[in-house]
Amino acid sequence: MPKICMVGTGYVGLVSGACLADFGNTVICVDIDKERIDGIQKGIMPIYEPGLKELVKRNYDAGRLRFTTELASSVKDSLVIFSAVGTPMGDDGSADLGAVRQVAREIAENMDEYKIFVQKSTVPVGTSEVVKKIIEDNLEKDIDFDLVSNPEFLREGSAIEDFMRPNRVVIGVESDQAREIMREIYRPLYLLETPIVFTSIRTAELVKYASNAFLAVKISYINEIADLCEEVGANVNEVAKAVGLDQRIGAKFLHAGVGYGGSCLPKDVSAILHTAENHTVSLRVIKAASDVNDTRIDRLFSKLEYEIPDLSGKTIAVLGLSFKPNTDDLRFAPALRLIDRLSGMGVTVNAYDPIAMDNARTDYGDIVSFFDDSYAAIAGADALVIMTEWNEFRQLELEKVKGLLRAPVVIDCRNIYKPNVMKKMGFRYHSFGRPEGTY
Ligand SMILES: NC(=O)c1ccc[n+]([C@@H]2O[C@H](COP(=O)([O-])OP(=O)(O)OC[C@H]3O[C@@H](n4cnc5c(N)ncnc54)[C@H](O)[C@@H]3O)[C@@H](O)[C@H]2O)c1
Repeated sequence: MPKICMVGTGYVGLVSGACLADFGNTVICVDIDKERIDGIQKGIMPIYEPGLKELVKRNYDAGRLRFTTELASSVKDSLVIFSAVGTPMGDDGSADLGAVRQVAREIAENMDEYKIFVQKSTVPVGTSEVVKKIIEDNLEKDIDFDLVSNPEFLREGSAIEDFMRPNRVVIGVESDQAREIMREIYRPLYLLETPIVFTSIRTAELVKYASNAFLAVKISYINEIADLCEEVGANVNEVAKAVGLDQRIGAKFLHAGVGYGGSCLPKDVSAILHTAENHTVSLRVIKAASDVNDTRIDRLFSKLEYEIPDLSGKTIAVLGLSFKPNTDDLRFAPALRLIDRLSGMGVTVNAYDPIAMDNARTDYGDIVSFFDDSYAAIAGADALVIMTEWNEFRQLELEKVKGLLRAPVVIDCRNIYKPNVMKKMGFRYHSFGRPEGTY
């Protein structure tokens, strides 16, 4: 089995490194963040991901998985070097490739024989050519190498399952040698008959953006249908269910609410629009999806201000901070947009999240009061806004919630509760795309 180096131990790098080790590969994970590496070595995971700690321990104990800050020796010891560093949204909306370039430079400086450089980060079409040039410019001698694009599709919260049983693996590759080595690395998935799609490098780079942009379109689509449902008295949950049963459409990503957030969809949609603009191509559907998403927060405020026209001086309880359940990731989380806007209006925000509060304290410690459970956050608030569908928010003791709130106002941004039940209980309840009195 080829030895693997995984650069970056974030949501993608750490999960991919651990899973590739679980496939039987020998993997060394490298990060520039010493605290992170020290923590992992002690069994402290830098991210919340169900099952990750056990998976890392199992492979660490088996001697297949190691962690270090030493890139030089890790590159020298490995045949295949994956890069899974961050590609955040830059100031102009394009992908910031600073870390990608830095890794390419450092790898080149430490290459002493043939290596395969696999780009796992989400990078715009053409990045591999930029990386190739950086490597060539920084090699100390003339060494053969191959580039591969292997975008990652895992979802936070179910990342291990997604990596171990993906719908497909996409590998952009242009040499037979690299193709065979990549096939060997993913052999366990090949045996499970996972579709492995070999493409050109540029195509693989675009597949990732085209996939995420499509998911964004689906979400914005159902959100606009939800708005129409509210006007015509239809129920978006039932519409989505019936529409999604059509196999040409599919049920996933048809949940109406406050819109998408997270570390991928907003930045990837922005980046593909940027790429298109650079090539004077107009991606009108994707642009519309992005515009619709930007206005979802207004829709939420129209519901809240319908109940409380003057929010200034009021207290709002926010349940859920992460952009979705089972992750501590706050990047582009809709809850943060809500909190920013509320605090700008002079509102006191009481918040609770089962996992993401520690991350939130860093930037929001001054403007948010954090509580240890849902009821403590709700007590004395003028309204409750549910932002993330964590399981524990699905089972709130509603009579208790009503008793604790100053007024029985609930804005349910994830359509967790039933409008007719809430109404009967005396709540002034708003969800998305479901008229009062419906199930
Ligand atoms: N998070 C997801 O759900 C997800 C899913 C699919 C694809 N992706 C893509 O994967 C990439 C990584 O995303 P992420 O969420 O794992 O990012 P992350 O921010 O969680 O992790 C990035 C890691 O890279 C490290 N790093 C940065 N520069 C480095 C360097 N020069 N050398 C070594 N380590 C370095 C950082 O310290 C950090 O630990 C992005 O391109 C993202 O778009 C993310």
